[in-house]
Amino acid sequence: MGLLDGKVAIVTGAGRGIGREHALLLAREGASVMINDLGGDGRGEGADLTPAQSVAEEIRAAGGVAEVNGANVADWSAAEALVKQAVEAFGRLDILVNNAGILRDRMAFNMAEDEWDVVIDVVLKGCFAPARFAAAYWREQYKRTEERVNGAIVNTASESGLYGNSGQANYAAAKAGIASLSTVLARDLERIGVRVNTIAPTAATRLLGTVIQHEEKPEGAFDPWSPAAIAPLVVWLCSDLAKDVNGQVFAVSGARIQLVRGFHPVSQIDSEERAWSPDRIEDLRDELLGKGRFDTGIPPFLPPVGWE
Ligand SMILES: NC(=O)c1ccc[n+]([C@@H]2O[C@H](COP(=O)([O-])OP(=O)(O)OC[C@H]3O[C@@H](n4cnc5c(N)ncnc54)[C@H](O)[C@@H]3O)[C@@H](O)[C@H]2O)c1
Repeated sequence: MGLLDGKVAIVTGAGRGIGREHALLLAREGASVMINDLGGDGRGEGADLTPAQSVAEEIRAAGGVAEVNGANVADWSAAEALVKQAVEAFGRLDILVNNAGILRDRMAFNMAEDEWDVVIDVVLKGCFAPARFAAAYWREQYKRTEERVNGAIVNTASESGLYGNSGQANYAAAKAGIASLSTVLARDLERIGVRVNTIAPTAATRLLGTVIQHEEKPEGAFDPWSPAAIAPLVVWLCSDLAKDVNGQVFAVSGARIQLVRGFHPVSQIDSEERAWSPDRIEDLRDELLGKGRFDTGIPPFLPPVGWE
């Protein structure tokens, strides 16, 4: 008995890296998996169906069920077709793991317009577009059966987006957008029975290789950078074990998982005169900014979990 027996999943960007591991474990737990991957390079250029096909073959060779889809997830109609293909191939949809992503790092003052546009497009729109059409499918099911659908979406943010890494204005803005988008989706879809959670993973993949150097661990040794370390959290979130978990953000790497909470009010001042003046704000600045309680400068970048 697998945790996901009878369920159908789409994983975007599942041809390599973290997404490949999600797909393999989802399939091992009994899900039929639609392997989406455009197969471009780490900057998002080019297209190649081979990585997606080889993951699907690996799943089938292990006795699982998988199909491939080579869509660019940021393409609105291709995202619609991806959801349709999964439903037609497997008869239903239960799980969407939005994982596809690219990098085009550059300091803000040097960033080109196309570097901004393509990362926002692939990362942020590429997360929303499949979610939009999966949500429409689930809402249709809900209206037809009048029963909550028991669906799950896992979106992929990044600690860069949560904490703001220098040199990643495009990527961090898109990833922070994903965390916020997930909260909205969780609220929009709660009533029809779809849970939406977010992970911020860290693992040695092609993508991270552009940022840090990773030393291969000897065969069999624990590797805190392994992309396979991320998948169990995703499977758990997609399974009925996590039926009560919705709208949460988890940072995950190696043997560590953190629950991360975002923006929330930390102090408050109220104007007795109702309206503010700059001088009155200055009078109350210590109450607002908490003199001696915390540094009022830019918060330090919290290195990703597992970062040595
Ligand atoms: N590796 C890390 O440490 C790390 C850290 C934070 C966040 N992430 C996020 O995890 C996810 C997976 O990254 P990874 O490290 O495995 O990278 P990766 O480059 O190894 O894999 C990403 C996959 O997404 C696919 N892809 C890219 N653009 C696509 C598009 N438009 N449509 C369909 N597929 C597309 C690529 O072909 C590739 O196979 C990404 O969203 C990434 O931003 C990774």
